[in-house]
Amino acid sequence: MISFKEISPSEFFYQHRELAGFSNPARALYSAIRELVENSLDACDGYGILPDVLIRITETEPSPSDIKEFEIYIKDNGIGIPPERLPRALGKVFYGSKFTLKQSRGTFGMGGTMSILYAQITTNKPLRVWSNTGNGETHYFELMIDIENNKPMVLKHKKFYPENWRGTAIKINMLGDYVRSSQKIQEYFRRLALFTPYANIVFEDPNGEVFAFKRSVDKVPPPPREVQPHPKGVDLELLRRVVQRSTSKTALSLLTNSFQRVGRKTALEILKMANVDPNKRPSELKMEEMMSLINAMKTYEKFLPPDPSCLSPLGKELIEEGIKKELNPQFVYALSRKPSSYEGYPFIVEAAVASDKTPGIKVLRYANRIPLLYDEKSDVVWKLLNEEIDLKRYKIDEDEPVMILTHVCSTKVPYKTVGKEFVADIPEVEKEMKLALQKVLREYSLFIGKKVKIEAQKKKKNVYELYLPMIAKFAALLGETKTPNVSGLIDSVKVVDIE
Ligand SMILES: Nc1ncnc2c1ncn2[C@@H]1O[C@H](COP(=O)(O)OP(=O)(O)O)[C@@H](O)[C@H]1O
Ligand SMILES: [Mg+2]
Repeated sequence: MISFKEISPSEFFYQHRELAGFSNPARALYSAIRELVENSLDACDGYGILPDVLIRITETEPSPSDIKEFEIYIKDNGIGIPPERLPRALGKVFYGSKFTLKQSRGTFGMGGTMSILYAQITTNKPLRVWSNTGNGETHYFELMIDIENNKPMVLKHKKFYPENWRGTAIKINMLGDYVRSSQKIQEYFRRLALFTPYANIVFEDPNGEVFAFKRSVDKVPPPPREVQPHPKGVDLELLRRVVQRSTSKTALSLLTNSFQRVGRKTALEILKMANVDPNKRPSELKMEEMMSLINAMKTYEKFLPPDPSCLSPLGKELIEEGIKKELNPQFVYALSRKPSSYEGYPFIVEAAVASDKTPGIKVLRYANRIPLLYDEKSDVVWKLLNEEIDLKRYKIDEDEPVMILTHVCSTKVPYKTVGKEFVADIPEVEKEMKLALQKVLREYSLFIGKKVKIEAQKKKKNVYELYLPMIAKFAALLGETKTPNVSGLIDSVKVVDIE
């Protein structure tokens, strides 16, 4: 007899935790920290709040093994979680507030939840959370996840008021390995701080070391706005949902109200192409009519590209500011490309280049403002820098002390896995990334050119400084005259600084 069974999403991720970046105790600690930090940042800068995030890891009991139980405590000043949503937001896989067409660090309603699930299965201790949406009430919950049913179980719920703060604080206990993950975790915070110069981020590690990254600008990039889907990305499932949820009375108003970039004129043209009556009630559309509408939308050529207001790039100024704050380089140059799109999703590529202090090319990749640290070789940036772009053309060899930074932001970053570590080589993204990289590399090679010139001038000046006074002295001795003053001559050898 074959037996059939259904499993819940949390059961699935319980069994396949490596898919979400929780493959072993070292990687799990790294992933848990980053998912929690990213939730905190989303809850702040996604709403125009300057983030203050504290994260503290403590060893709960001394143990000789590298795999220990750690308590992770994180506190932010974000928008908080409404108490009626909180148990599900944190105790149910695939439940969250980010399933909208708007850029955020979270994507699947599972990152933070997965950290909580992993904590539970390794220590069997509940999640403790305090949250205040700014209305004077702090709600405290103790929660566990019913993994088989993908449901939160509330063990305790208390309310405290009046409490004058806003934000969320979370405590979990999990097994982790800080010995094998400390380097990656510290690197993660350094890269995160570099790309979030408007945030205060404090990380206290289990050895008592404090990594404090102070904000250097009081400016949050404009938060993204939620938008309607672009017609180029439509499929049958999307159209069916749009029809179900819409209150529009006619096919014409359905198109103009439920999609971006569709005005009355465009809608009429599409309906004509699809041979659908503009006055037809959406609920009465037949399957063939839906299919021909989808076809018409996919082949219509005159749509404006997707609305980029749902994106929140960091921008040239803040990228350069972040790099200066963390690296203090001699040279930095950043750019933000114009919005582009793939399959109806808008995206923006940003890139930067900076001189570094240690030899070697370093590549810092970001997506939706998250630093990506793993699987570098699977990323489109690696492909471009190693196979498509000839770095020698830019006077860069492998020892060049240079840092190259890339950022892709989109409502749907084409990650290849749910672990969010590398970006796929979608042709549109690849093309934009290539143009961005070529431009920053060109700027860098101009800087190298200037640097070489300046060094040559400095050398020349040093030689003059050394020998001219001696020559003057001997010449004077020979000619039995007074030694002439040569400082004017030396000063005439100019060394221009790199601006
Ligand atoms: N620190 C926080 N502040 C406010 N809301 C949060 C915070 N952490 C989690 N949430 C809420 O919980 C939801 C689930 O989080 P998570 O499992 O990480 O999934 P995702 O971030 O992909 O949506 C989020 O969508 C958000 O609504
Ligand atoms: Mg998340």
